[in-house]
Amino acid sequence: MKQQKICVIGLGYIGLPTSAMFATHGCEVVGVDINGKVVEALSKGKIIIEEPYLDIMVQAAVRSGHLKAKRKPETADVFIISVPTPITKDKKADMSYVVKATEMIVPYLRKGNLVILESTSPTGTVEELVVPILEKSGLKIGEELYVGHSPERVLPGKILWELVNNNRIVGGINRISAEKIRDLYKIFVNGEIYLTNATTAEMCKMMENTFRDVNIALANELAKICEKTGINVWEVIELCNKHPRVNIHQPGPGVGGHCLAVDPWFIIEKNPELAKIIELSRKTNDNMPYYVLDKIDEILKDIKGNKKVTILGMTYKPNIDDVRESPILKLIDLIDNREDLEINVYDPHVGVHKYQEKDLMVAAKDSDLLILAVNHDVFRTLPLSEIAKVMRNRNFFDTRNFMDKEELEHLGFKYILLGEKAI
Ligand SMILES: NC(=O)c1ccc[n+]([C@@H]2O[C@H](COP(=O)([O-])OP(=O)(O)OC[C@H]3O[C@@H](n4cnc5c(N)ncnc54)[C@H](O)[C@@H]3O)[C@@H](O)[C@H]2O)c1
Repeated sequence: MKQQKICVIGLGYIGLPTSAMFATHGCEVVGVDINGKVVEALSKGKIIIEEPYLDIMVQAAVRSGHLKAKRKPETADVFIISVPTPITKDKKADMSYVVKATEMIVPYLRKGNLVILESTSPTGTVEELVVPILEKSGLKIGEELYVGHSPERVLPGKILWELVNNNRIVGGINRISAEKIRDLYKIFVNGEIYLTNATTAEMCKMMENTFRDVNIALANELAKICEKTGINVWEVIELCNKHPRVNIHQPGPGVGGHCLAVDPWFIIEKNPELAKIIELSRKTNDNMPYYVLDKIDEILKDIKGNKKVTILGMTYKPNIDDVRESPILKLIDLIDNREDLEINVYDPHVGVHKYQEKDLMVAAKDSDLLILAVNHDVFRTLPLSEIAKVMRNRNFFDTRNFMDKEELEHLGFKYILLGEKAI
């Protein structure tokens, strides 16, 4: 195959690793972003997001001359759109980034080009939103311009490995589009590549995340039931999962990220009369920060006057720096809005943030309650005996079943576990 020139629009958690991967496999890649900081950093072979080994790969790709950063697209063989698809405040898909990115490439399209939407999108986006914009190029869609959707399934923290090894779904607006997209990804994908139509691919991506969201909601509901019943949800789940056909998910203080907390709403928006379980699950998970706040009140009820709470972790999952849609941010807001509660947050993965306290001991000083909100690996080695000395009251609320109960109790902490009998 002749060396392909690929123009990737949007250089975030998906677009940048994808660009670097194609570039290190010999393709000429032009990465385009409207954020000047991203372009400036990339021009120097640097990155502004946290993802293991991505900095090394990007540096190699830029040094070799295969990856360049630009603010505007260029003519190319392939255009990949990987811009955000967030939800609005009223839980509707915000497709404005996809519209702008698609409009941006129209002047650069040539006969024989391939356009791939990678952004997670509601059903019908390729057929009803992207194609009408691409038609402005004057090219015959499906014959002179090939179009499709290839959703991304990578796990933050393991993106580079999963880009190569995950199975992929490719949905074309016609068969030849799907085949051309498959041939492109074959450059670096070792997993299977399954061909379908664009709308089916869109639904698959949303449903994969919805499946997980619904199952976490079930685990959260079970956690509340177990607390009321006076048993430990983590033990119940562990034992249930010994059954060969049962896989109960893990409960926690909520669900976040730009996938699980977002994609189900795309299905609900288009099918409000049908997506009942999906909607209830979304609301169950969105309610968890409120549930955690109730638990905090219960734990601190005997302490008079103002109380101080220290939260460990603010990302939506462990070992990453991403706080998008994090339920911990919601919890922090809820606590911050209370006059009787003071809050400090410590998350070594997150840089500057309005609530962030960089020094753990300062964050814990005079605290009445430590809350383990995110199970970052670094929290395995917390200096607990030092922390215990500076706290006002030694309460520890573990929302992830992550801490060593015995160790904490030995240090004089009262240990409270989410999903265990009410206190
Ligand atoms: N991050 C993940 O783990 C993940 C996994 C699967 C799917 N997705 C999906 O992939 C898509 C991209 O997600 P992400 O996490 O990479 O987002 P991101 O916010 O990390 O990056 C998007 C980038 O696009 C840029 N951008 C926005 N509009 C632009 C435009 N018109 N032209 C050029 N650049 C533009 C932004 O400046 C930003 O740098 C979303 O639809 C997301 O749901 C993400």
